[in-house]
Amino acid sequence: MEYQTIKGEKVPSLGLGTYRLTGQTCVRAVERALSMGYRHIDTAQMYDNEAEVGRGVEGAGVERAEIFLTTKVWPSDFARDRVLKKTRESLKKLLTDYVDLLLMHWPSEGVPMGETLGAMRQLQEEGGVLHIGVSNFSPSLVEEASGHAEIFCNQVQYHPYRSQDALVEQAGQMDYLLTAYTPLSRGGVQGDATLKEIGETHGKTEAQVALRWLVQQERVSAIPKATSEEHLAENLDVFDFELSGEEMERVSSLSR
Ligand SMILES: NC(=O)c1ccc[n+]([C@@H]2O[C@H](COP(=O)([O-])OP(=O)(O)OC[C@H]3O[C@@H](n4cnc5c(N)ncnc54)[C@H](OP(=O)(O)O)[C@@H]3O)[C@@H](O)[C@H]2O)c1
Repeated sequence: MEYQTIKGEKVPSLGLGTYRLTGQTCVRAVERALSMGYRHIDTAQMYDNEAEVGRGVEGAGVERAEIFLTTKVWPSDFARDRVLKKTRESLKKLLTDYVDLLLMHWPSEGVPMGETLGAMRQLQEEGGVLHIGVSNFSPSLVEEASGHAEIFCNQVQYHPYRSQDALVEQAGQMDYLLTAYTPLSRGGVQGDATLKEIGETHGKTEAQVALRWLVQQERVSAIPKATSEEHLAENLDVFDFELSGEEMERVSSLSR
């Protein structure tokens, strides 16, 4: 596993996404992933699988302090009392005293941003949340959010077909983690001629090239979702090769 350093703290570059993982399949995927060496798990209150994620973490027997665990608050719960209530429920379901990162899942104009982030800061002061972040925020919204709380992360769609140049630059300036969701374009990178060609020179698959391209960038982490043991293992196996500057450029140019 490689780590990104954000505000002096190490975050595992690769995590497991859990959207649409439910029931025993979710418990097993989380447990398997941690047993294989994953140390970063992404869930959300909206995914309705926090209890299963919690059971998976418990089952794997990995020390809690070694795991970077993220959950997110859905916009319909952005009012102060809802943020507090829903996140305290998250901690119970996740069988933990704290989450490493709590995100506003999407921007919303329903509740003033300062109210939501203020509630998240209260949870941080209580120790239930280590870091605060946002998701699906534009650079100007991140800027606005940073007026209310120290922003540790912005989680956005980022993969070879979806460039995020402005946010990558802002993440560098503000020293925040840019987490790439849908890093495999929902499996769509498979069969891509350029990724395949680059992969062949390294003995890697299209998915592995896409993930390597992400985690090789400063302050970027990727959270591919996978169910099968094969996919889980394949996605983790991206730390024994490096893309050249030219290969990085070729992947970047796939963005359309
Ligand atoms: N913040 C947000 O608004 C937001 C939005 C969307 C997603 N997310 C987060 O990001 C995570 C990942 O995004 P995602 O689930 O939408 O898409 P993704 O990770 O790009 O793709 C997942 C799909 O790719 C398949 N797959 C996994 N590894 C593969 C491999 N090595 N080769 C070929 N196919 C592979 C999976 O199949 P199997 O499951 O069958 O292995 C699944 O169908 C989510 O689970 C969630 O945690 C956040």
